Amino acid sequence: TDHVTLDPGFVNTASCTSDITFIDGDAGILRYRGYPIAELAEKSSFLETSYLLIYGELPTPAQLTEFTDKLSMHTLLHEEMRGFFNGFPRDAHPMPVLSSGVSALSTWYQDSLDPFDPAQVELSTIRLMAKLPTIASYAYKKSIGQPLMYPDNSLGYVENFLRLTFGVPTTPYEVDPVVARTLDMLLILHADHEQNCSTSTVRLVGSGHANLFASVSSGIHALSGPLHGGANQAVLEMLAGIQESGGDVRDFVRRVKDKEPGVKLMGFGHRVYKNFDPRSVIVKKAVRDVLDRMAKPDPLLDLAMQLEEIALADDYFVSRKLYPNVDFYTGLIYKAMGFPTKMYTVLFALGRLPGWIAQWREMISDPATKIGRPRQVYTGPTERHYPA
Ligand code: CMC
Repeated sequence: TDHVTLDPGFVNTASCTSDITFIDGDAGILRYRGYPIAELAEKSSFLETSYLLIYGELPTPAQLTEFTDKLSMHTLLHEEMRGFFNGFPRDAHPMPVLSSGVSALSTWYQDSLDPFDPAQVELSTIRLMAKLPTIASYAYKKSIGQPLMYPDNSLGYVENFLRLTFGVPTTPYEVDPVVARTLDMLLILHADHEQNCSTSTVRLVGSGHANLFASVSSGIHALSGPLHGGANQAVLEMLAGIQESGGDVRDFVRRVKDKEPGVKLMGFGHRVYKNFDPRSVIVKKAVRDVLDRMAKPDPLLDLAMQLEEIALADDYFVSRKLYPNVDFYTGLIYKAMGFPTKMYTVLFALGRLPGWIAQWREMISDPATKIGRPRQVYTGPTERHYPA
């Protein structure tokens, strides 16, 4: 293995070429198919951005309507699959339920599993995009003991998800437009991020020619960890922990700097962004605005702002180029919207789905793709013999 290069965490190793997302970590630039993230967050919608990521160009109005209509034809889960949610314990975390649900799609929708049949890939794309919000809301409904709602296909993508999540069959559900627009914008911010941990997982699993449902189910598990998508839940837990123990932000920062086991400033730091995360700038602007407009002041927001201010003035964080990432403020918005902490990473998954799909499709159709198979540097015993 002399020719093998050791690169833990793939810090310097590119695994593919890609036309989808561009990041310049030093300049804080993020673009989907060339379009700056700030422009998409302000002007686009989540479905339009999803179309852009998956098919490569912004849709014409007619294409967007067709895409939206196709999605609304597939929001229902197979009736037998609704029963599937009963098998989980009530206190199950919704991330494994979401991942299992996506995995289970491959058992109910066996006519869209062939990675090399373009019509089947298209059908699994539409099914996944349409059904993930339904599965996500069922994971939540199960945890609070409420009946599973049927989708309302007259509603928009995000509005339908909000109703499935917060509505009940006995009462009409009024979607708050501020909540819907803000959630739509947050989904755009999460929609792709090139070869991050979960996307690399989706590609790696797919590189062995596993189907799209199997690949995305694996990506959801990869996303769940606190160093990745699970960070949004971990930030809120960190803030709540600081508040419960008296709100001493400086003492918490000291513990981070002393590297107390398990104590990190969650929502800070990024493998690629070394000056700022352009997504976090947009989220930070939104958080105050949204909390004000929803008249939901939250003492945890003040704690978060204090933490950020202290950290950004501290040599520990400055010298290591640690800045708030996308996850630092998102949880506070989700909390104001009424989502329980356990659902935050599920929302990240809903946002990241079009990116996973786009990357999987690019991987499958790229003639240069080979099965993902990293090498290793062996450091164990040399040959030895079993005792006689
Ligand atoms: N708090 C305290 N110290 C940190 C943090 C942090 N959040 N992040 C990095 N460091 C330190 C780390 O201990 C190391 O210090 P030293 O050189 O003394 O050993 C140095 O900074 C470099 O860190 P690293 O762990 O080598 O950096 P990485 O690129 O491998 O890790 C990261 C990136 C995002 C996993 C890491 O910054 C982290 O754990 N952050 C907290 C979790 C988090 O917010 N994750 C969300 C990332 S953005 C959205 C997403 O991807 O899902």
